[in-house]
Amino acid sequence: MNTEIAKAESAETLTPELIAFMAEWRHSPGSLIMVLHKVQQFYGFIPRKIAFEVAEHLDVPLAKIYGVITFYNFFKLTKPGRNQIQICMGTACYLKGGEDLVAELEGILGVGLNTVTPDGEFSAEAVRCVGCCGLAPVLVINGEVYGKVETKALHGIIAEIRKR
Ligand code: FES
Repeated sequence: MNTEIAKAESAETLTPELIAFMAEWRHSPGSLIMVLHKVQQFYGFIPRKIAFEVAEHLDVPLAKIYGVITFYNFFKLTKPGRNQIQICMGTACYLKGGEDLVAELEGILGVGLNTVTPDGEFSAEAVRCVGCCGLAPVLVINGEVYGKVETKALHGIIAEIRKR
């Protein structure tokens, strides 16, 4: 996906693939959410200009699009880091030290949650249960699950990701 995001960064407008996807699904129930998922999959977030174009193509008010984007935590309005980290703060992970992981990670990255590092490499966010509580505390980095993470292991994990 990161390669796609990199490709998309230079895109000024909706790609032919996204236009075709909208044409195919526009009359289906839930099509707006599907389209927004597709847009975010491609760009890594929902760029403002693209939100305008989606509104025009699907003939829905822009306010409705922003209503959906802001209702679901999943959608992002700003460009994330090249590597996206999710720290689970569901009950099991919280009880097993999720907050300590957040503090350690913020120290390593030098920025708080929901902020992209100055070099654009990382962004991190706290999320609800990701569904593998037996592995608490859990991190998800670029879609890959890291379980039973100890704070002292974080430096090594981040250094490894940075090299990829
Ligand atoms: S609470 Fe973290 S995976 Fe469920």
